[in-house]
Amino acid sequence: MRSRKARARAGDIKGAVNRFRWRWVAPAVVSGIAVRACRPVDRAGLIRLGHPPMVADILCPSPARALLWRLKGTRCATLVAEEMDTGMILGAVQFVRCPRPAGTWMFGHWRVAAGRRRQGIGRRLLREGARLLPDAQRLYSFVDWGNDASIAAHERCGFEAGRSLFGSAPLGLLSTIGPATPALRLEPAGRREWPVLCGLYARAMGSLWLRLRPGLRPRAFLGGALSGLRGALVAVVRGASRGARSSGFVLWEGATVTFFADPEACDAALLARVALQVAALGGRRDSTLELRGLPAGLAERPGPFGVRVLMGMPDVPTQWSE
Ligand SMILES: CC(C)(COP(=O)(O)OP(=O)(O)OC[C@H]1O[C@@H](n2cnc3c(N)ncnc32)[C@H](O)[C@@H]1OP(=O)(O)O)[C@@H](O)C(=O)NCCC(=O)NCCS
Repeated sequence: MRSRKARARAGDIKGAVNRFRWRWVAPAVVSGIAVRACRPVDRAGLIRLGHPPMVADILCPSPARALLWRLKGTRCATLVAEEMDTGMILGAVQFVRCPRPAGTWMFGHWRVAAGRRRQGIGRRLLREGARLLPDAQRLYSFVDWGNDASIAAHERCGFEAGRSLFGSAPLGLLSTIGPATPALRLEPAGRREWPVLCGLYARAMGSLWLRLRPGLRPRAFLGGALSGLRGALVAVVRGASRGARSSGFVLWEGATVTFFADPEACDAALLARVALQVAALGGRRDSTLELRGLPAGLAERPGPFGVRVLMGMPDVPTQWSE
C-alpha cells in the first residue's frame, strides 16, 4: 500500500499529463528525492537550478501559454526532482510529444543541480518520465556540439548519437566559408522529384531519426503527402553541369529556410554555394539557414555554425524494461 502522500504525488504527475491514457505509476519516492510534476510555485526553484527565467516560464507555463499549447495540439509535461527534506528542486526535465508518430517524445531542459550531478538524479528523471508518459516508446533530445558531459550521460543512459548533425548558420557568414565557383543550380522540385527528395531527406536526417519517426515513407515526409510542395517551396541542389547528381534540397517554409544535405557531399564549398544561391533568391544575409545532414568533420573545425547532436532511444521498452 502506498501512503496517502505518495498517492497524492502520483496523482499530481497524472494531473500534468491527464489528457493522456497512460501506463502505470512509478514509485515516486527513492532515497529522499521525489520526482513529481512541476507546479507554478517551482519557478523560483528552477531559476535557482540554473535555468534562465525565460526557460523557467516554458517549464512552468502560465495558464494562457498552456491554453495556447493545448489549442495548437502541443502536449508536454515537466517533471522535477525535489529533495524531500528541504523542498529544494534538484533537477528538471520537460517532455514534449511529437504529433506524429504516436509514441515518440522529445525531451529538453534536462538539468541537475551542479553539486548533485552523477548521483543518479538525471537518469531517474528520464526513466520516470518514460514510465509515466502515455506510450513513450521512443525518446530523443538535442545536445549542443561540445557538451561532452551531456553526451556521455545520454550514452550511459542508453541513448545513441545520430551520425549526421543538425545545425544553423547566418546566411551571410555561411556564403564566405568556401569558394563561390563553380556555382550550383537550385531547380524547383515537382511531384516527379518526390521520391528523390525523400531519399535525400532520409540521408540528411540519418537512420536514427528514421527509427525515431517510423512510417516516414515517400508519401509521408515533410508534413505528409506532398504537403511540402503545397505549403512550401522546395528546390533540388545540383552541380553546374546538366544531369549532375543532386546533393540535397532547400525547403522554404514561411520565414524558415532549411538545407537538407547529403552528408557525403556536404562540405564547406557546398554550404557556401547553397548559401549564395539562397541569398540570390532574396534570402537576407542576416537570416539563418537551418542545416540538416552536417558531417561531424565540419563541426570539428571553427566555423559560423551552431551545431546539435541528435541523441535518441528508438526502443525505450527494450532498453528500460523493468
Ligand atoms: C546531463 C545531466 C542532466 C545528467 O544528470 P546527472 O544527474 O549527473 O546524471 P546521472 O547521475 O543520472 O548519470 C547518468 C549516467 O551518466 C553518467 N554521467 C553523468 N555525467 C557524466 C559525465 N560528466 N561524464 C561521463 N559520464 C557521466 C553517469 O555516470 C551515469 O552512468 P552510470 O550509472 O552508468 O555510471 C547533468 O550533467 C547536467 O545537469 N548537466 C548540465 C546541463 C546540461 O548540459 N543538460 C543537458 C542538456 S542536453
